[in-house]
Amino acid sequence: MDKFIVMGGNRLNGEITLHAAKNAVLPLLSCCILCDEEIVLQDCQPLSDVKKMAEIIVRMGGKAFFENGDLHVNCSDVKSLAIDAKLTKSIRSSIFMLGSLLGRFGRAEVSYPGGCEIGKRPIDIHIAGLKNLGVDVKETEIYIECNGTNLHNGIVELSMPSVGATENMIMAAVLTRGKTIIKNAAREPEIIDLQNFINAMGGKVEGAGGSIVTVEGVNRLHGCKFRPVSDRIAAGTYLVMCATCGGEIALKNCDTFGLNSVIEVLKSCGCRVKEEKDMVRLTSDGKLKNAALLRTGPFPAFPTDMQPQFCAALATADGVSLIEETMFENRFKYINQLEIMGADIAVDSRRALITGVNELNANIIEAEDLRGGAALITAALKAEGVSTIYGVEHIDRGYYKIEEELTGLGADIVRVSK
Ligand code: EPZ
Repeated sequence: MDKFIVMGGNRLNGEITLHAAKNAVLPLLSCCILCDEEIVLQDCQPLSDVKKMAEIIVRMGGKAFFENGDLHVNCSDVKSLAIDAKLTKSIRSSIFMLGSLLGRFGRAEVSYPGGCEIGKRPIDIHIAGLKNLGVDVKETEIYIECNGTNLHNGIVELSMPSVGATENMIMAAVLTRGKTIIKNAAREPEIIDLQNFINAMGGKVEGAGGSIVTVEGVNRLHGCKFRPVSDRIAAGTYLVMCATCGGEIALKNCDTFGLNSVIEVLKSCGCRVKEEKDMVRLTSDGKLKNAALLRTGPFPAFPTDMQPQFCAALATADGVSLIEETMFENRFKYINQLEIMGADIAVDSRRALITGVNELNANIIEAEDLRGGAALITAALKAEGVSTIYGVEHIDRGYYKIEEELTGLGADIVRVSK
């Protein structure tokens, strides 16, 4: 397992070019199952979560491979409708495949994706929605068997705006005759991207980005080349790291639409943020003001996927900050690692009260989940001295060679592979 060695204290200056978003590419890969022609997802990095999803498609008989910075997919030969159990356990987004497998083949079998480091991650909203569309769902201890012989169009009202459940319902409806209406849909930019992708293949989806999404079933989809939306969480992560360490960075290929709430917080903490076409620039003196209250919520509220990174930034801010995590029940685990570095944070269930300290101390720490790992890098970049970060495999799930990107900004961080 790899580790990072970080010498903190450097300011970050320079430019990073963003690539396709992990949380857009994963549902788009599932969606490729609906099409029996060649698809090219452009500008996709081989993130470990994306490689796992591609592997699931290959194990089902399809083709999925990286070439010249693009992801080439062809599901014309997909036969097996059972999603590889071991891979399903290792990646939550395999559950997104139910909708596309049912939409194309009328059947699907998947093992429970299981909880993950940040929470139980139930799938009841996915199952309720599919049943609403006529799918017969048989749940056993270890897997879910779906029979979509009677899959039909209809109206689905989600009990909460679940991103994955919204994506699953859309994919189940794309090739299903008639109009399907999804109410209380998630509004994340990645849902808009899924709509744009499906429509680029000849589908008919409308309303994504709002709470009501409408899908008009079509007979088939044709192949296409498509550049998924840039990774707004990777963008936010680099902005927070620069805000914390001080310096000036520019992010290219950055669609700031999905970053508005993050940019507002950065400005309120004293950073200068300039938004240009496909570019965002941040300048910081490295001395942040506190954030009185950061409450996570479904888009367009402040994103839960940016909560750990901001907590690390606020650990050395001036004053007291409060974070309220409303989305996941176990998304503060990284805080015990920040406390090893000298952070002063009191956690009470879903709230973290952060009292800014003058400085963090370098230490030996361990990442246990993706965004918690990004928080630990943020803290290590700020701390005086040399930190060692274990658990880098969690970070590699959503950031491709992050150590190289940060070195390009002047950070002193190296990967040590055992
Ligand atoms: C997506 O997960 C993202 N993952 C997550 O990003 C992100 O944190 C999350 O949306 C919220 O924005 C991908 O897109 C691959 P949800 P998803 O269904 O779809 C509850 C990252 O770090 N829920 O919107 O699984 C659930 O427990 C990852 O990149 C149910 O109760 O999230 C959670 O509390 C982490 N029953 C809330 O809804 C269900 O059937 C939001 O979950 C489904 C969800």
